[in-house]
Amino acid sequence: MKQFTSIAETVDYLNTERERGLMIGFVPTMGALHDGHLSLIKRSKMENDLTVCSIFVNPAQFNNREDLNKYPRTLVYDAKLLLECGCDVLFAPEASAMYPEGETPDIDVDFGMLDKVMEGKFRPGHFKGVAIIVKKLFDIVNPARAYFGKKDYQQLAIIRHMVKTLHLAPEIVACETVREADGLAMSSRNMRLTISERNLAPKIYEVLSKLKAKTGKSTVGELKEWAVKKIQEYPDLRVEYFEIGDKDTLLPLKNLNRKEQAMAFTAVFLGDVRLIDNIELFL
Ligand code: PAF
Repeated sequence: MKQFTSIAETVDYLNTERERGLMIGFVPTMGALHDGHLSLIKRSKMENDLTVCSIFVNPAQFNNREDLNKYPRTLVYDAKLLLECGCDVLFAPEASAMYPEGETPDIDVDFGMLDKVMEGKFRPGHFKGVAIIVKKLFDIVNPARAYFGKKDYQQLAIIRHMVKTLHLAPEIVACETVREADGLAMSSRNMRLTISERNLAPKIYEVLSKLKAKTGKSTVGELKEWAVKKIQEYPDLRVEYFEIGDKDTLLPLKNLNRKEQAMAFTAVFLGDVRLIDNIELFL
């Protein structure tokens, strides 16, 4: 596996490989890799000639300094996992290279309501930060395909919108959420949970799954109320939001007339760790 920190060297190397006719698949990450990330690498390897993974903890997408400082950084271990998984290139730049003029992220894309609801509402500026770094990474890697997990469903919608609006080349490939045996969605943040928080965390997906089984029998309002109450039966779980929304616009749904569009989304705090998850309600 080639490992680069320099943008120029990465661009040079990948240009040569592209000129040789190789199709590049790209998995952008912030490191602290888990099986969810590795499943994206494996999928990219199946569908492309060369797979690039980036590891960059992007300051511009953290609206909370403490969250940024506490974000796990495990580059040496991550590189080992990527090597074992058969990743071809690891690009792990310094913040000074990605933001040579400091962190003043702006991007000329109107996301409409996509960055105003749910995560966008509670983490102002977060999606602008994601969009700007993904655009910079796409410019450097210039992949044919880029792989994103559905756990960060709103992020996926934002990136799809940016690719469409700016006419960017990569095909965006959405991949299923990978879960632990007890249902907890894999996330780099899980490693910050205490043992008792880790034991409680699967309740989030348990409630989402039970909610799915209940749909069709109740109104949207009743379903939301039931789910929030169920999660908060555990005093150590604090729901930040629970929404039933449209899978394309992400806007809250008032009814379930168009069943195939309905998804439930939630963000829940366990101590100071914030976890998100979602489920398609009728699939
Ligand atoms: O999902 C992530 O890990 C990050 O938001 C991403 C897409 C790598 C951008 O920093």
